[in-house]
Amino acid sequence: MAIERTLSILKPDAVAKNKIGAIIARIEDAGLKVVAARMIHLTQAEAEGFYAVHSERPFFKDLVKFMTSGPVLVQALEGENAVQVYRDVMGATNPKNAAPGTIRADFADSIDENAAHGSDSLENAKNEIAYFFRSIELCPRTR
Ligand code: TYD
Repeated sequence: MAIERTLSILKPDAVAKNKIGAIIARIEDAGLKVVAARMIHLTQAEAEGFYAVHSERPFFKDLVKFMTSGPVLVQALEGENAVQVYRDVMGATNPKNAAPGTIRADFADSIDENAAHGSDSLENAKNEIAYFFRSIELCPRTR
């Protein structure tokens, strides 16, 4: 299987609950490695740009408001099949539907405050990583 990279955002609700370490433990236990990380408080323009694909959806305004409500931890993750592995570790978008033991089942309260973002395809992962990190900031994990 191919080594991939994916973008993770630990959202303002997860950061506010002080669950950064608990969530990163899930990520590492799944075999994924952190290759870049930054804490940032997104501006409205940055959040709107990141979620531009959802700009026509009814929840867009609330999503941007939530994502700018506090700091987030943005990470690039690396590993075999990283895009799908991280989606599995996160669980379904709506925590009510998320499998037990997933990040969203254990740390999220609602579909609109759902603790974590993970890229949904390899192509989106490349674009999303480039949105936050310069190539020099990505540290390949050879061991
Ligand atoms: P989406 O890309 O459908 O889900 P995922 O994050 O699992 O890839 O939606 C992006 C985010 O938009 C989602 O994480 C939370 C928010 N959202 C809502 O607030 N309400 C909704 O009804 C949906 C579908 C998403």
